[in-house]
Amino acid sequence: MSVVCVVGLGYIGLPVASMLASRGHEVVGYDVSERAVSSINQGRAHFFEPDLDMLLKAAVQTGRLRAQNEPVEADYYVIAVPTPFRDGHKPDLSYIDAATAAIAPCLKAGSTVVLESTSPVGATERMTRQLASLRPDLNFPRYKESRPDTNVAVAHCPERILPGQMMRELITNDRIIGGMTRECAEAAAKLYGSFVTADAFRTDCRTAEFVKLIENSFRDVNIAFANELSVICEKLGIDVWSAIDLANRHPRVNILQPGPGVGGHCIAVDPWFIVDSAPEEARMIRMAREVNEAKPHWVADRVVHHAERFKSPVVGCYGLAYKPDVEDLRESPSLQIVRWLASHKDLSLVVCEPMIERLPDDLREAGNVKLASMDETREQSDIVAFLVAHRAFRAFHRNQFLNKIVVDAAGLLSQPS
Ligand SMILES: NC(=O)c1ccc[n+]([C@@H]2O[C@H](COP(=O)([O-])OP(=O)(O)OC[C@H]3O[C@@H](n4cnc5c(N)ncnc54)[C@H](O)[C@@H]3O)[C@@H](O)[C@H]2O)c1
Repeated sequence: MSVVCVVGLGYIGLPVASMLASRGHEVVGYDVSERAVSSINQGRAHFFEPDLDMLLKAAVQTGRLRAQNEPVEADYYVIAVPTPFRDGHKPDLSYIDAATAAIAPCLKAGSTVVLESTSPVGATERMTRQLASLRPDLNFPRYKESRPDTNVAVAHCPERILPGQMMRELITNDRIIGGMTRECAEAAAKLYGSFVTADAFRTDCRTAEFVKLIENSFRDVNIAFANELSVICEKLGIDVWSAIDLANRHPRVNILQPGPGVGGHCIAVDPWFIVDSAPEEARMIRMAREVNEAKPHWVADRVVHHAERFKSPVVGCYGLAYKPDVEDLRESPSLQIVRWLASHKDLSLVVCEPMIERLPDDLREAGNVKLASMDETREQSDIVAFLVAHRAFRAFHRNQFLNKIVVDAAGLLSQPS
């Protein structure tokens, strides 16, 4: 068993750290957040993910996992820090840079560094150059050059787990392991072999970086197609859900479902990394982003348009999360829609989000927004906007909303049964 230092204990790093500890590794989690460190050391995750708490608690109680504010010397480093974008949709690599600078003094001959953060093509090589400049006493790999004196391995292993199913998918998802060299991929694969039961495909780090980005771009482009159809259907007086359902009866057609936009910090972010690397060439990927980014505006405009009929309109909004059955509001198109609606001071908003206990501060302070139950929201509103297809909302029947104006961006009432 190995000593593993997991850098960044968020939605990705903490499940990975807990899983590694459950497989017998000695895991030290390093995070800059005091709140995360203190909560983890008490055996509690600082966010909700099914089945995580159980594994984490056992890992902490058995002494296999501890969190702290500094890295340690380790056999493996797994880096899972954020990779957002900056103004102009440029990748922000400052978190990776900071994590790299922090672990550099701790590295030893024989260490393997794995970058798990979703990264633009070239980020693993960039990280390796940074490590090499900080530790001239060690021999770092060069891209695709196998050399006998290399004594630190560096690889990229992108994460594919789905929030809500992370603990299962960590074990069962196939992995792509991209090494700076073939030997680096093998070194990283050893660590993943200790908990992944699916296949681990070895490749080079550039390909691995690109694979992750095109997985999310594939989703984005296909969702953009469905979202564009929803806007066209509204114009033509056609039920988009029904049209897609019928089109999908074709043996070679599989159109995705439209929605209020695309949220989260993966699908809505990662395609921009490709656009940034190849701005002239990535035309469809860029346009898909633009279509999906425009969708929340379009939904909010529909609501505002209907509200013009009422003297004191009350709008019921179902859902704030970025996707069904999660509590995560980050980059949520539904939250964006509710924020825009809240900025219309002539509207009163009743928001139902069963996954959270209190509204975000800005909505609490807006003065025209309150959090309510499913029934209260329905009873009090003139216009109902379905924004997220949470399981709890799927019990609704269209008959319950006959006297309301419905803007159904989540397909809760419109979908053919
Ligand atoms: N959340 C997902 O569903 C998901 C899925 C696939 C890939 N990813 C990718 O995984 C990476 C991490 O995402 P996340 O959702 O876990 O982010 P997160 O914000 O939940 O967690 C990141 C953690 O890193 C810590 N951190 C920031 N800078 C640090 C530093 N210099 N040293 C140590 N700790 C530091 C933060 O305090 C935080 O706890 C991103 O690249 C993301 O795109 C996320």
